[in-house]
Amino acid sequence: MVAATHTTSEGWSSRWAFVLAAVGAAVGLGNVWRFPTLAGENGGGAFVLFYIGCVVLIGLPLVLSEILIGRAGRSDAVGSVRNVAAESGRSGGWATLGWVEVVAAFLILSFYSVVAGWVIYYAGVMGRDFFGTLFAGAPFAGALQGETTETIQQRMGDLFTNIPLLLAMHTVFMGITFAVVARGVHDGIEKAATYLMPAFFVLLIAITIYGAFLGNFAEAVAFLFTPDFSKLTAPAMNTALGQALFSMSLGSAALMTYGAYVSRETKLAPTAGMIAFADTGVAIIAGLMIFPIVFAVGLDPAAGPTLVFQSLPAAFQQMPAGSLVGFLFFVLIFFAALTSSISLLEAPTSWGINERGWSRPKSAFIFSFSAFVIGIACLLSLSVWSDIRLLGFWSIFAETNIFDTIDGFTGKVMLPVAALLTAIFVGWRADRKLVESETGLEGGLFGLWRFLVCWLAPIAVALILVFGLFPGLLGN
Ligand code: TRP
Repeated sequence: MVAATHTTSEGWSSRWAFVLAAVGAAVGLGNVWRFPTLAGENGGGAFVLFYIGCVVLIGLPLVLSEILIGRAGRSDAVGSVRNVAAESGRSGGWATLGWVEVVAAFLILSFYSVVAGWVIYYAGVMGRDFFGTLFAGAPFAGALQGETTETIQQRMGDLFTNIPLLLAMHTVFMGITFAVVARGVHDGIEKAATYLMPAFFVLLIAITIYGAFLGNFAEAVAFLFTPDFSKLTAPAMNTALGQALFSMSLGSAALMTYGAYVSRETKLAPTAGMIAFADTGVAIIAGLMIFPIVFAVGLDPAAGPTLVFQSLPAAFQQMPAGSLVGFLFFVLIFFAALTSSISLLEAPTSWGINERGWSRPKSAFIFSFSAFVIGIACLLSLSVWSDIRLLGFWSIFAETNIFDTIDGFTGKVMLPVAALLTAIFVGWRADRKLVESETGLEGGLFGLWRFLVCWLAPIAVALILVFGLFPGLLGN
């Protein structure tokens, strides 16, 4: 038994505020940038199907598990796990789970802000173009007029070596994130989510309709939904699971942290369902937004991480009103990224407040500044530091720069480990009565959820973790 940690005094003003903030945390670069990229690289249909399976059978039960730890523990992720462990008569060592999650959130924030910086840059380029043509009397022009496709694609390479520009964008984004989190749960996080998320949804639907009419929608649908199971290799499955966890912000303290601000009256199970459903829906709609445009101009769906930043701007050049739509597209990604980075920063910030007694602005500053510094190493690794290997001794990271190593290590190692520990903790160690009353589930539904958390989630996550990290075990 250990002493309970200080509990939070902050809270959401309504259930909807919580849903919006949690959906805001879940919906981010992961949905609009990473999901289409990975689906493209891993062959489309089969990957998407396997991904949806991961969401329903592993992700959804874990979303509920994490929120309930937060609400039962009423502290930061570390403190909440410790409190629930204490209440269940278990070792304080379980706080390690909270630690893994908070550190994961902190590390993700560092490179997330760099990518969000690219988004700001492209929103700026497209915006300048749109407003330029607007004032020149040709508001419906394509984007980046007068540039060849090569020049447009070259932009990303130029951006990656332009250290002052990358640094400026990274600073702006981290600065905004800090400013929101420093204002608190009610005045900062909740306000940002209630403005940005509805705007995000409107833009998402509008651009998808645009693509459906003007792009190659049929090919996009065929690509995303026709499965070819030969493409579903062990590393692809590991990627899909890692992406499902990343996308729902699992294993990275967001849901535990936000869960602590949820009132006792809120029913957690339907709320968890809404979060998982909205997140997956947005990922698939994002695919249906991006691929019709990609196919319309004959680009490669498997372009990888450059898909959104290199291929799409070239596509927007050839599309009607491309500068306007391109501008709105990057504004949309910016909104999604901001509501996520807010939650990434809130996780360590709430630890500093609850466990160190720091004021909110001080805690937010300490963590945003240190994540900012690590982010600088990430952005330097795009050019001058590209040869530095953080985990070079490990085969899957032997070829990756600092940026990809932090991304890969959090996504492929830390999030699955945290998911595994969460399933074991909630399924096997936490007090069963406490868990049952927190879920609000009864009878068969509770039994089903418990089965998924106790058995399916830990076994599936463990298998995929082992085979994904050591592909040699499968003999290929
Ligand atoms: N879910 C976010 C996205 O899809 C990324 C993310 C992972 C995240 N873990 C998080 C966001 C924790 C907030 C908190 O972009």
